Formats: sequence, C-alpha cells, structure tokens
Amino acid sequence: MNKPKVLIPHNLDQAARSYIAEHCEIVEFPKDKKLDAETLFRLVRDVDGMLQSGVRVNEELLQHAPKLKIVANHSVGYNNFDTEAMKAHGVIGTITPHVLDDTVADLVFALILAAARRVVELDRKVKAGLWEAELKGEGAFGVDVHHATLGIIGMGRIGEAIAKRARFGFDMDVVYTARSRKPEAERKYEAAYMPLEELLRVSDFVVMMTPLTPETRRMIRAEHFAMMKRTAVFVNASRGQTIDEAALVEALRSGTIYAAGLDVFEREPVDPQNPLLALPNVITLPHIGSATRKTRAAIAMKAARNLVAGVTGQTPPDVVPELRELVD
Ligand code: DGY
Repeated sequence: MNKPKVLIPHNLDQAARSYIAEHCEIVEFPKDKKLDAETLFRLVRDVDGMLQSGVRVNEELLQHAPKLKIVANHSVGYNNFDTEAMKAHGVIGTITPHVLDDTVADLVFALILAAARRVVELDRKVKAGLWEAELKGEGAFGVDVHHATLGIIGMGRIGEAIAKRARFGFDMDVVYTARSRKPEAERKYEAAYMPLEELLRVSDFVVMMTPLTPETRRMIRAEHFAMMKRTAVFVNASRGQTIDEAALVEALRSGTIYAAGLDVFEREPVDPQNPLLALPNVITLPHIGSATRKTRAAIAMKAARNLVAGVTGQTPPDVVPELRELVD
C-alpha cells in the first residue's frame, strides 16, 4: 500500500523526521525562506498532511489541497488556522502543548530581568567604554523584580509556569486576568484574579501571554499603556498583534511606561526600520520563546506524532478545541 504523503520543513529535527519517514512519504518545504503562494499551492496539491508553523491555513489554501487531512503545527499557537474553513473541509489542526511551557516561561523571566535591570543597554555601554562617563550611581539604576507585582494577561499553561517562577523564585505578588478564572492557580500561586484595567494599574510587570484570537487582537492600546505605572515593564511573548505596536512605541518614548521586553512583533521578521529597535529601553528577541535544542526536539516529535496519527486514520492527541468535533 502507498504511504501517505506529507509536507514537512527541510530542517525538521532528525528524530522527528525519521519517525515520520517510517510511516509516510516525505516532501519538503523549499530551503528558501520566502515561500510564494504559487509554490505553496503546488506543494499542497497532493499531500495528505502538512507539518509547519507559520503557513496560513485558510479557504484559499484548502481549495488547493483536496487530499489534506491534517495540519500539524510546530507550535502551541494556532492563529494561522482558519478553523471555520478547516472544519468545512474536514481538515484537522493540531498543536504542541505542554512541552514548551517551562522553556517559554524561562524566556519571559529573561525578558523581565533584562528589561528591569537594563542588562542589554548596560552591556552595550560597558563595551563602549562608558563605565566612568555614564554608569556610576543612578546611571546604572534599574527597578526591582523581587517582591514586585506581576500581572499576567492570559493564565494558560505558560501563564501558570510564569506565575510559579514569580511566586516562589522572586517572592512576587501575582495577579492575572483571563477568560475564565483558574482556582487551581489562585490556590497554588496565591494569584489574584482581576479585570484587565485593575491589573494594569497595580502591576509593576505586565506579561502578555494570551493567544491571538479575534477577541485579543490589539487588546492592549494607548489607553491601556496610560493606565500602567510609569515604572512598569511590559513583556510580550504571545503574538505581536495582541497589542497596538505604535502605541507601545509612544508609551516607551514618552516615559508613560519604563521599559519593554519583546519576543514577538506585529510583523515578523521585524522591519529593520521599526522604531522599537531604536529605543534603548526595549529588549528585542526574534520570537525564540521555545528555542532550546531539547524543547524544539520535543515540539518536533509531538508535531510528528500528531501528523502521523492524522494521516493514518488515528486520532491525533493534540487537536485544537475548535476542531475536536472532526475526531470525536
Ligand atoms: C508557539 O509555540 O506558539 C511559540 O510562540 C513559538 O512559535
């Protein structure tokens, strides 16, 4: 019998690739990073499954992919899925939950600490020989992380991993807002649930961890930055489109807030002209929340297992909630 055909990244982790190869015939995305629509539509024409992270799975793509049964995301986010269109075409979508929670939470803390203590800015100054001229006394002051209040917007699994580090590692008070209350997190981390506006007013650090959905698109705008403390640090490790980026630039320039740590941007790769890149009080990272060798290998294997299950008629373990009815 013919093996199912699947489209996967050329640089997928080797163990995941080998696992897929046992069950499927592999077609690779081209090495060239820029994937135009014509090439994509040609590639998906006769595949049964696809493993990837950023490709928009919408009506147009699905029209070109008559055999497609599953799209296995190599990520926990799935804002690239048009779940209505996928439902209409009977295409399952999966993600990679759990395996990256601690790794992303670690990175959020790297951003919190680096922004609060001006690690990147001061590193540059030391290397530029400015120790004597600028870095004595107040010139090197930052703000404290320990015993401060951390506000988490979006208390999912990663939010909880951040709350744990905050409460037990840094003696922070944790407050959060989310679509629904999380009694378990409230108990374990003494986290207080509150409306967004109140969270913004009381927090020293505000961490954006909510998934990107129609409801959370541009959720944080100028009026929200205005509610934050002037000493507040804003961290975004979810998706860039959850905030109004121009409003963040203005808030940082005007001193409305103190600093920001960003792993995500409205447009990625970030435009080299993006004004955020010129601000000293912003730490910028290239969307690397889950980027450690061990975690990326675990993500790849999880995505591979979902993919193989989906193309061999089994139920993949990590179907997104909106598409679960396709497998139940
Ligand atoms: C995720 O898994 O969604 C992370 O943001 C990495 O893309």
